[in-house]
Amino acid sequence: MPPSGAGAPAAGVQAPAGWGDAFAEVPRAAFLPPVIWPHDQAGETFARVDARLDPAGWRAAAESDLPVVTQWDDGAHTGEAPGREATSSASRPSLVAAMLAALDVAPGMRVLEIGTGTGWNAALLAHRLGADRVTTVEIDPAVAEAAERSLALMGSRPRVLVGDGAAGAPEHGPFDRLIVTCGVRRIPPAWLEQLVPGGLAVLPWGTPFSRHRDALLRLTVRPDGAAEGRFLSLVSFMRMRAQRDASPPRSAELPFHDIRSAAWPPHGWHPFPFFAGLRLRDAAYAVQRHDDGHTQWLYDLAGGGWTAGVRRGRVGPGVWVRQAGPRPLWDEYLDAYAWWRAAGQPDVDRLGMTVAGSGRATVWLDEPSHPVWTEPPG
Ligand SMILES: C[S@@+](CC[C@H](N)C(=O)[O-])C[C@H]1O[C@@H](n2cnc3c(N)ncnc32)[C@H](O)[C@@H]1O
Repeated sequence: MPPSGAGAPAAGVQAPAGWGDAFAEVPRAAFLPPVIWPHDQAGETFARVDARLDPAGWRAAAESDLPVVTQWDDGAHTGEAPGREATSSASRPSLVAAMLAALDVAPGMRVLEIGTGTGWNAALLAHRLGADRVTTVEIDPAVAEAAERSLALMGSRPRVLVGDGAAGAPEHGPFDRLIVTCGVRRIPPAWLEQLVPGGLAVLPWGTPFSRHRDALLRLTVRPDGAAEGRFLSLVSFMRMRAQRDASPPRSAELPFHDIRSAAWPPHGWHPFPFFAGLRLRDAAYAVQRHDDGHTQWLYDLAGGGWTAGVRRGRVGPGVWVRQAGPRPLWDEYLDAYAWWRAAGQPDVDRLGMTVAGSGRATVWLDEPSHPVWTEPPG
């Protein structure tokens, strides 16, 4: 175990102010199972590491600043290859540190965490605030049980509840702070209702468009029950179970036409796709890599077609775009790109959100008086 007060949760990661002892005394490795899947973000791949076969590799991954998948396909996955969908993980230590810094806790505060996962974050909170101040909710009973085992081995006993975190934990509130460690499409009203006025919520939020790329949002609850705050940075999280994004429909046999487009909007780990999601309703986006370029896929989630913008090294300037079905997705995408550029190519930290007392969310650019997205009813 690292020495007390060392303050470095992983290679090159600095614990936020006030969190040095917690990070030094509560190592992530103590919360990881023998088989883990560190995410190689450069190659977008997952390599299976088994502590029994490769103890040094396992320790290096556990102590790295990489996110580590601990469950695929809600536990149904078996075998060596990665599963279809990562459904539980330990986030990268630098992101855990950033979220705890944003949470801005002080002694005596009560915190609710949604998404217990491995239990590491709950253990950090319990170390800082006291176990009796921390409640964490996990939807997957097997994940919750493993987290409780790890917590007990570390002598840490925050309250671990099994259930749908969308309901919060009304019987244990109100809370001063809420931290959500799964991606959210709609903010459940219960969360803000269970925070005290002036309380803070830190959560990853996004539209279905950019799928696993969300932005970290920090909301402050106002005395009238509404909440408001700004986005902080791009983040990647697995989705809350009930709010998982639908798989893009595979539309067969749609008529298509090819066009040549001079513009190629930025893709991947870039703020633009997040902004595009505020403009393109009921649409999703994916990027396919080739040896010599990329394809940007756009899908109409209502089943009205798809668009593929293809850029290959040998094609020269511009891209070929194939649009299938009635919805001109590429045109909408280029309109969104023009809008984003006209706004000065903002990063996500120029965006904020207001959640009205009714629960309806509005995203704005720079000021609440400049809305750019309103939550659809329902
Ligand atoms: C990224 S992991 C959480 C990481 C965790 N905080 C840690 O320290 O290891 C996301 C977790 O959220 C859980 N989850 C998904 N939907 C949920 C829901 N509706 N309520 C509670 N937990 C949920 C998943 O099962 C998964 O374990």
